[in-house]
Amino acid sequence: MKASAIANANIALVKYWGKRNKELMLPNNGSISMTTAGLNAHTTVEFDEKYKEDILILNGKEYKKGMEEYDDYVGKFLSVVRQNYDVNLRCKIVSNNNFPTAAGLASSAAGFAALAVAVNEALQLGLDKKELSMLARRGSGSATRSIYGGFVEWKRGSREDGTDSYAEQIAKPEYWPEFRMVVCVTTKEAKKIKSRAGMAQTVKTSPMYKAWLETVDEDLRAVREGILKRDFTLVGQTAEHNCLKMHATMITTKPSIIYWNAGTMDIIHAVLEWRDEGLECYFTIDAGPQVKILCLEKDAKEIAERVKEFPHVEDVIITYPGEDAKVVDKHLF
Ligand code: DP6
Repeated sequence: MKASAIANANIALVKYWGKRNKELMLPNNGSISMTTAGLNAHTTVEFDEKYKEDILILNGKEYKKGMEEYDDYVGKFLSVVRQNYDVNLRCKIVSNNNFPTAAGLASSAAGFAALAVAVNEALQLGLDKKELSMLARRGSGSATRSIYGGFVEWKRGSREDGTDSYAEQIAKPEYWPEFRMVVCVTTKEAKKIKSRAGMAQTVKTSPMYKAWLETVDEDLRAVREGILKRDFTLVGQTAEHNCLKMHATMITTKPSIIYWNAGTMDIIHAVLEWRDEGLECYFTIDAGPQVKILCLEKDAKEIAERVKEFPHVEDVIITYPGEDAKVVDKHLF
């Protein structure tokens, strides 16, 4: 009744922004991401009668029932597990990220993918990858994609019950090993508005949201094609444009949601200049101020060296297509 798993974070090339069903965590639009090598969550879960209540230790800090961060995330997820698989036992979860959680690098994606895989193993549920992606989805939407490595699409689906909203792998990591993302951390402070609250407010109030939904299918088609043809220009151009469209919906939410800081702006302008000079790279930004620069292996070091010189850049991490989430032997307790 005890198992451990490791899952990598992922960074979206076509973003997920907005839900059609909050309870079932169903998205308004499909999305595509790259699973990142080296930015992962390692999680151990144990179900046992000795636990009188669920307990979570995340990066050394204890969380339990009654705490908002717990109830809205892991607490909700465990209720789904108990309901769907008829489990009555309480559990202990220990999870560590090997990258700073506060840096806003999609830690919930890696965390819930690892938790879904560990729970499946601990309780011997026998779920396949598609089912695992749907279980991870109940913890955090972006976690749906972290079940697979390489390049992954999370299907929007159209069914009310969510049974057709799951992840599929577009290409394995070895299909396009030269693809790089240079992650530029412009602040280590935790973001003020979580994705969950931010997207709900956007759906409700941004006049741009309709345009987002009308154009996202075309971006999905282009990025899918770009990945399969290993067409870096097509993937990069589409991903950058898609990111700017998502941020346009955020900025025009009432009250406005502006995730960018001065460091974010510096890098955006630099990427545009470098591209003009012939260094091919594109940016993407999620619900936070960090910038991820898309490039190919041959340019990654040069770009990393350049961004390190920027006054607002606190950390730079180069990542490439990583592996599927998997069960591991090493337990954290
Ligand atoms: C901007 O998956 O964190 O990173 O489903 O409410 O847990 P919840 O939100 P979350 O949102 C991720 C939003 C994004 C885009 C993306 O990863 O696709």
